[in-house]
Amino acid sequence: MALAVEVSNLVKRFGDFTAVDGISFSVSKGEVFGFLGPNGAGKSTTIRMLCGLLLPTSGEARIAEHDIYRETELIRRSIGYMPQFFSLYPDLTVRENIEFYAGMYEVPRARARERVEELSGRLGLEGLLDRMTRTLSTGWRQRAALATALVHQPPLAFLDEPTSGVDPVTRRQFWEFIDDLAREGTTVFVTTHVMDEAEHCTRLVIMHDGAIIAEGTPEEMRTRYVQNMVEVQAAPLWEALEALQASPLVREAALFGDALHVQLREEVVDPAEAVRQALGEAGVAVEAAECIPPTMEDVFVALARGGEEAVREASP
Ligand SMILES: Nc1ncnc2c1ncn2[C@@H]1O[C@H](COP(=O)(O)OP(=O)(O)OP(=O)(O)O)[C@@H](O)[C@H]1O
Ligand SMILES: [Mg+2]
Repeated sequence: MALAVEVSNLVKRFGDFTAVDGISFSVSKGEVFGFLGPNGAGKSTTIRMLCGLLLPTSGEARIAEHDIYRETELIRRSIGYMPQFFSLYPDLTVRENIEFYAGMYEVPRARARERVEELSGRLGLEGLLDRMTRTLSTGWRQRAALATALVHQPPLAFLDEPTSGVDPVTRRQFWEFIDDLAREGTTVFVTTHVMDEAEHCTRLVIMHDGAIIAEGTPEEMRTRYVQNMVEVQAAPLWEALEALQASPLVREAALFGDALHVQLREEVVDPAEAVRQALGEAGVAVEAAECIPPTMEDVFVALARGGEEAVREASP
């Protein structure tokens, strides 16, 4: 299948700090590609290089089959970019913002007016078109920013944390909108810190400290990277948490709602029984302990913590 994004050994250094450390990956046309990683991992820096806005230190990338060094103008015409912060002019109305971006992308005026209607209808912005964007709440500002990024119907959209600060109902609407875009043939490259949202993606990459530490479909991520997960109900829960965190058989234990999610080391054959035993020895009453498939959040936490450990071990 044709590739929308093709990245090979991409590096970005700021002075002697390496923000992106030789990453390689690709995105096929039509994917909803999730680009995940903890704060400071290098996601936004990578996106800015792929959009032709930041010059890489070294490495190669092709976006919509155009080279990021020599064909930035062609790339800019092929993509929509919703940056993580500040893409709207605060003293313009929502309509003026969308029309401004339409002008930058050379969308004919009549068509731009049609797009304002289409996008405001789909994003629920109809009543707000004549409001100054500086007076909008976060969620409405994000909708308006999304509209400006898509006004020229780009085949490839880079959305850098589009749902940041957005309430759960609106988030669901955003994802319905993203799914619709993908169905209509747009390739979507999206970052998020909300792990439920990662489940919407066809494929994911997880970055940590400038490097890619995991890659696959959400299903592959859950089965490949985290085994031996046990959900525990116990009283008192915090005592159970302390006891499990101290156990040499436990890799990771964390609160998850009113239960604990505990990841046992790979060599443990019967994880649920090992948890019961550890808690029994600590004198904590166990109400339930059963093996469960990990959630994306479990996977993310395990990989991000694992990444930190690997970095600590590597440093002198
Ligand atoms: N212009 C710059 N000069 C120096 N350092 C920079 C610059 N831009 C980014 N960095 C650093 O590069 C690292 C990666 O930043 P980046 O914004 O790409 O992370 P991110 O993965 O998008 O994080 P977040 O989830 O918080 O948005 C950070 O340590 C950041 O401070
Ligand atoms: Mg970022």
